Amino acid sequence: MSLIDPTSLSHLRERYPRSPGRLRHHLAAEGLLGYDALAAAARALPRQHVERRVHNASNGEAFRVLDSDAHLANAIAAGGASSGWIMLRYIEQLPAYRALLERLLAEIAPIIGSATEAVRDIKGFVFICAPGAYTPFHFDAEHSILFQIAGDKVLAAYPPAPPFLDLARREAYHRTGENVLEWKHDYAALGEKHLLARGDALFVPYAAPHWIHAGYKPSISLSVTWQCRKSRAIADALSLNPLMRRVGLPAYDPVARPSAPWLRAAAGRFGQRIGLV
Ligand SMILES: [Fe+2]
Repeated sequence: MSLIDPTSLSHLRERYPRSPGRLRHHLAAEGLLGYDALAAAARALPRQHVERRVHNASNGEAFRVLDSDAHLANAIAAGGASSGWIMLRYIEQLPAYRALLERLLAEIAPIIGSATEAVRDIKGFVFICAPGAYTPFHFDAEHSILFQIAGDKVLAAYPPAPPFLDLARREAYHRTGENVLEWKHDYAALGEKHLLARGDALFVPYAAPHWIHAGYKPSISLSVTWQCRKSRAIADALSLNPLMRRVGLPAYDPVARPSAPWLRAAAGRFGQRIGLV
């Protein structure tokens, strides 16, 4: 049986890669995404890839990692986090989950491949959240699909452009990995909000800022992320910007120049190899 409902693919085809696109899926029937299997996965992953954060942080600064004496697998086995936000990071390290991610992406490969070529750097994240858990405004420098497995969530997506995301934040991410964005109250009315119930999924475009709010039940979500040739080139070109400014040349801005920056990317990779950037 397909993991993704084939009748939902036409919507993704219309929207990929620039706009959020909804899908329907059958992942809730997958044993790998129940609490028992996820508890076993949490034990199998390196300890630093299982983290708990403040579940009701209203902004990025408050969204801090919480220390935990007991292994978080215990909380997952007990039916999730009663007051937490738990993430299993890089779940593709576990062969069964790697196979699941590859099956999912194989089902949408015709859509992805014709628009952005082959997928690269497949990664998986599982979020096990208490009712009402909030993921503050942030962006991810990758393409992603969030599959809702249990409970529901609202995800609000914004264009990857100012005022939500500026060039300085993009460059800082590639230097430091920091992806939390400043929130302003007047943004609340501007996002494209999607209610995701069990069986729903949402494609989130590369670098599109978003926030996520879990509903009244415990929530389980799987996020599958990937890079494409162009997204890699954007990262390499952005890494060259500080050097370009130092020598008085214009910096690369993906909003001002939507075409792929192949030449700057090649220069950026060369600069990285010789330690210049
Ligand atoms: Fe995200």
